[in-house]
Amino acid sequence: MKISLPQLHDMKLAGTPIVMVTAYDHPSGRIVEQAGVDMVLVGDSAANTVLGHDAVSTVGATMDELLVLTRAVARACARPLVIGDLPFMSYQVSDEDAVRNGGRFIKEAGADAVKLEGGGQSVQRAAALTAAGIPVVGHIGLTPQTATFLGGHKAQGRQWQQAKALYDSALALQAAGCFAIVLECVPEPVAAAITRRLTIPTIGIGSGAVCDGQVLVLHDLLDMRPDSDFMPKFVKQFAHIGPAMRAGVAAYANEVRARSYPAAEHTYAIDPDQLSAFEIAVEAGAGPDNVLADW
Ligand code: KIV
Repeated sequence: MKISLPQLHDMKLAGTPIVMVTAYDHPSGRIVEQAGVDMVLVGDSAANTVLGHDAVSTVGATMDELLVLTRAVARACARPLVIGDLPFMSYQVSDEDAVRNGGRFIKEAGADAVKLEGGGQSVQRAAALTAAGIPVVGHIGLTPQTATFLGGHKAQGRQWQQAKALYDSALALQAAGCFAIVLECVPEPVAAAITRRLTIPTIGIGSGAVCDGQVLVLHDLLDMRPDSDFMPKFVKQFAHIGPAMRAGVAAYANEVRARSYPAAEHTYAIDPDQLSAFEIAVEAGAGPDNVLADW
């Protein structure tokens, strides 16, 4: 059964860590569901994990692209909550845009909720979305859509004024109706203070084990970024799927070139009588006209 928002709240109260991960397609959605995660984010990180944009930027992902990916993941996930990530410029201009685009994730793509980045005007957008009946996850700290403003992809809240601003944003997003907040690259003591003060769960990424849950990008934790030699400090690689895929495809290519694949066990038999009739027909020069006549 689909995990509910009250269940997530109860997990915070019980101190049970919430497990969230990204996914961008149906097989990955099935695998993360089978692995027992609680929430699946179809992140705008799709831009750099699966759509071939710049290695760290997320701004290239479009509504149309994320709707297709979210639909595939939503079809795969019966229990985990599926979150569609509102891409850059899908909610920044107006509340109307936010609600219209948020609504598309729910209605067209089958998502259970949406995520948006930032405090400030995003608080108002979160309020508009929740007022329209769309569950919302907030996201503060390092917000990749506005990384240029933040001085790049680096930790946020290391100065007390900045930390206090994050704390205030977290409270404002909670008051606006968010049911969870992602804290990205925030110093652990700051994440701890926010987590203690909020009644809704915090989901950390690079913000320490004090958060109520954790999220990682699937392609980071599984080592599936073949061209990137940069991994953020907070990433732990729990498996090496990229190298295993490369080795598998290389082994296939080698066997094709050596004609050792396909072997006898990969081919289909034909009854000997059928085969000799076929050979006689070929010898007799049966061409397309004769074949048509047979029909
Ligand atoms: O798009 C994404 O993958 C995210 C996570 C890093 C939280 O926003």
